[in-house]
Amino acid sequence: MKSWPEPYRIKMVEAIRLPRREERERILREAGYNLFMVRAEDVFIDLLTDSGTGAMSDRQWSALMRGDESYAQARSWFRFYEAVRGFTGMEHVLPTHQGRAAENLLFSQIARPGISIPNNSHFDTTRANIEFFGAEAVDLVIPEGRDIHLDHPFKGNMDLNRLEALLKEKGRKSVPLCMITITNNTGGGQPVSLANIRATGELCRRYGVPLFLDCCRFAENAYFIKLREPECARMSIREIVAAMFACADGATMSAKKDGLGNIGGFLALRDGDLAARLKSMLILKEGFPTYGGLAGRDLEALAQGFEEVQEEDYLEARVGQIARFGEALKGRGVPILEPTGGHAVYLDARGILPHVPAHAFPAQSLTAELYLEGGVRGVEIGSLMFGKTGKDGRFLPAALELVRLAVPRRVYTDNHLGYVAEVTGEIVQNASSCKGFRIVEEAPFLRHFTARLEPLA
Ligand code: F0G
Repeated sequence: MKSWPEPYRIKMVEAIRLPRREERERILREAGYNLFMVRAEDVFIDLLTDSGTGAMSDRQWSALMRGDESYAQARSWFRFYEAVRGFTGMEHVLPTHQGRAAENLLFSQIARPGISIPNNSHFDTTRANIEFFGAEAVDLVIPEGRDIHLDHPFKGNMDLNRLEALLKEKGRKSVPLCMITITNNTGGGQPVSLANIRATGELCRRYGVPLFLDCCRFAENAYFIKLREPECARMSIREIVAAMFACADGATMSAKKDGLGNIGGFLALRDGDLAARLKSMLILKEGFPTYGGLAGRDLEALAQGFEEVQEEDYLEARVGQIARFGEALKGRGVPILEPTGGHAVYLDARGILPHVPAHAFPAQSLTAELYLEGGVRGVEIGSLMFGKTGKDGRFLPAALELVRLAVPRRVYTDNHLGYVAEVTGEIVQNASSCKGFRIVEEAPFLRHFTARLEPLA
């Protein structure tokens, strides 16, 4: 891929510091070898998430000053509303403080025992919100999307055969809503093609089932469509965005990603009756429907962010940076999930630490090594997050052992990421010294956030 430079220059900087090796050893030990427990100021390059961690532009910072903090019908609300209606084409917009609040609101009305909600792959919070209300969350990504080394332009696509089988078997009463996550975060930030979104929308319509987009990274998805779907090569990003949303009846969004903001989200709907019902819940949980848990200045910054994120030269630099990061890692012999997605590179921990068995948490071991070697923070997506203990007491490992290195928007340069690639390359060279970990303390659920571990001798 040709490298397009960032279409902006840096106006303000924030100092970062790499603690000395002995300090890093102490910090990690005190944190129970869990990167969620390490203080952010002790991290040199923080690739834990791309959510809410981006840099705002001068135009967004000036928009903050225009924030209208009136409780009801503030000017900033109308700016936010017009921006969201503009790119989603949906009349009804419910602002929320972040994505999971929009999911909670939606599923509080729709999900209950006996209900199934299909998606290409549910993100953790979406799955948790569905299961919380007693319904079943079903992942139906195409088989290619589950093979981490297979090359395919749209590994986030929905498996239409399996979706149709589910709709046929259960009908609209038991499948009241279908989702597509763009890009598919759980599957590696992989895009979904416009053809697949359209076909899913048509299939859902035949069965009378509304289609919702989980559209956290809608602009990155649109850019991949332009790049990889020949019929869309001549369309503008805004045209592709409009075409994607035209297939959907609703959308949930964490605006902490492609809203280029540090907080915020929304639920957008075409169905006015559903919107009216949800608005009372919105008041109860988030706030009055014209601010929904956000300050007027947040609404302003996001309205501006939704515009900037659809600029093609921004997207070219953004997606290009992730691709170059992937190439730099591969150049140092690091196995990664391919092709690289829109917001992160996923390291194949099983390939990097083949001698560490699943029950000794190879992906968690790799996050510890990344911090020890270079002060880098990534997130484990492996057996610490998804592993279980079976009824017979046997350890059931996760399907994959990955470490996600998510890249915040407009924050790090290629130099920072080159450094991370170098550090990871050194870990690959010295892999045999890492013996794995065991858990010494864990919570009954979502244990990966707070578990304490210790290295195996
Ligand atoms: N949907 C997707 C696809 C996401 O990636 C996220 C968040 C959410 C929903 C929930 O949004 O955090 O604003 O409540 N993903 C972050 C991540 C946390 O690190 O991938 P939220």
